[in-house]
Amino acid sequence: MRKKLGIIIAVLTVVLANSWVAAQVGPGHPDRGEALYKEHCLRCHGRMGEGDGPDAQGLIVRPVDFHTARSRAKTDFELLIAISNGVLFSPMHSWRGRIADEDMVHVIAYVRALAPEYPHL
Ligand code: HEC
Repeated sequence: MRKKLGIIIAVLTVVLANSWVAAQVGPGHPDRGEALYKEHCLRCHGRMGEGDGPDAQGLIVRPVDFHTARSRAKTDFELLIAISNGVLFSPMHSWRGRIADEDMVHVIAYVRALAPEYPHL
């Protein structure tokens, strides 16, 4: 029971901390996310966000192709959680502390700009 409560509190803390970030920064600007994306994310997610960056080849868990329906269906908030906390059991580590919180929002705007139209299925 205690363990469950701990997990619930941990999850709530993560969700609240991230919503706080989202609420503070307002809408992201793709122009401000572009340089960051190219510096940190392109090597795995690829120039056009298709998951085909130069470092993607050797990875067992492949980087997400942001054009897929599965990825497009996610809300910006879900993407923010992935960037901020990382994705468990994957090479996608947490970026919290490595890039500023508001920059995560700009980078998401850039990712959305890379994959704007209807997804390839
Ligand atoms: C070392 C390679 C690597 C780097 C660098 C990297 N990622 Fe990822 N990323 C991954 C992998 C692998 C996954 C897929 C995990 C999975 O299958 O759920 C992922 C997943 C994601 C997701 C979740 C997408 C979804 O639809 O579930 C987002 C958002 C994301 N990355 C954004 C970024 C951003 C922004 C950066 C740069 C700040 C970045 N990634 C850098 C490898 C990387």
